[in-house]
Amino acid sequence: MITLKLDLKSDYEKGTDVAAKLLKEGKTVAIPTETVYGLAASAFDDEAIKNVFIAKGRPQDNPLIVHICDEAMLKRIAKNIPDRALECAEKFWPGPFTMVLEKTGETAKSVSAGLNTVAVRMPSNKTALDIIRKSGLALAAPSANSSGSPSPTKPCHVEADLDGKIDAIVFGENCEVGVESTVVSFCTNPPRLLRPGAVTEKQLRELIPDLEVDKAVLASLDKDEIAHSPGMKYKHYAPKAEAYLVEGDSGEFCEFVNSKKQAVAVCFEEDKNISINKIVYGNQKDESSLAKEVFAALREVDELGVKTAYIHAPSKNGIGLAVYNRLLRATAFKVIKL
Ligand code: TXA
Ligand code: MG
Repeated sequence: MITLKLDLKSDYEKGTDVAAKLLKEGKTVAIPTETVYGLAASAFDDEAIKNVFIAKGRPQDNPLIVHICDEAMLKRIAKNIPDRALECAEKFWPGPFTMVLEKTGETAKSVSAGLNTVAVRMPSNKTALDIIRKSGLALAAPSANSSGSPSPTKPCHVEADLDGKIDAIVFGENCEVGVESTVVSFCTNPPRLLRPGAVTEKQLRELIPDLEVDKAVLASLDKDEIAHSPGMKYKHYAPKAEAYLVEGDSGEFCEFVNSKKQAVAVCFEEDKNISINKIVYGNQKDESSLAKEVFAALREVDELGVKTAYIHAPSKNGIGLAVYNRLLRATAFKVIKL
C-alpha cells in the first residue's frame, strides 16, 4: 500500500479536505491531536475499523476511542449519559479527556471490541476538529503507533511505524501534551479513573469527589483479574531495550547510572553529573515538559541501539502520574528504588 503524505504547511484547506474525503471513503488516516497522533477511521464503518486493528497489529479485544466535534455526535453514540459526565464534558471538552459511557449501537461493533460501552472524546486540536467536521463522521482513533511501541507525538513517529500500512498521514504539528487522554468510566458508580492524563486526578475530584482510581493505574494486574480498561493489560510503550524505572534523587540516580557503562540514562535536565550516554526528557519540576518528551525519548533509546535503559522516575504529581503510569508499562513494572 502507498501511504499518501498530506502536508498541511503548503495548503491547510486542501490537506484537511483530502483527509476528510478519504475517511468518508472508509480509508485509514493518521491525524494530529493535542495528546498523541491518532489513526482515524469512520466509527460507523466496520471494515475501516478492522483495517485500523490490522495496521497497528492491535489485539481484537482492545476497544478504540471515538472522536467527536459536537454534542449531536455525542448523543448519536452514547445514551443514558449521567449528569456528572455531562458536567465533566462541559468543563474538560474540547480537550484531553475521554469518557466511557453506555453505547447506542450506532457505532461499528469492532469499535467497542464486544463491550456494551463506548469511549468518547472531543479533542481540542484544530486540525483534528476540522477533519472531524469536514468528514461529518465520528472518528475512531487509537494512537497511531504499532501496537506495543511508544505512542507517536510527531508525524515522523507515525511514518516510522505505519508507512505502507495505512492510507494517509496528515503531517501536522508535534503534539503539545504528549501523553494520551485521561480516561474515566461513568459506567460504574462511583466513576472510575482508568487511565491518567493531562486532566489530573485533582481536577476530576472537584467534580467527582468520590472518584475511584483503578488498580491498574499504578499496579500490574494478576492473570485472572479483569482489566476495566483492556489496553492496560498489555505490554505497552516499550522500547526494544531492557528498560528500568529508577526512583531516587538526582545524586543517587547519577551515581547509580555512572556504574552502568553500556547503558543509556533517560534523565532530567537537573541530572547534570552523568558520564554515560544520556537522553534528557525534560525538567523534573515541570511534569508537563516530561509528558511532552517521554515517548520521543523512549524511541531515541532504540535509535542508540543500547541493550539497557535506566529511566529516572518522575513525581506522581499532576500530569506526572500519567508519565509514571506509561513508564511502568514501558519497563514492564521493573522498578529500582535507590
Ligand atoms: O489521547 C488519546 O486518547 C489518543 C488520541 C489519538 O486521541 N487515543 C488513544 O487511544 O490513546 P488508544 O486506543 O491508544 O487507547 C484507548 C484506551 C485503551 O486503554 C482502551 O482499553 C480504553 O481506552 N478504552 C476504549 N474503549 C473503552 C471502553 N469501552 N471501556 C474501557 N476502556 C476503553
Ligand atoms: Mg495506544
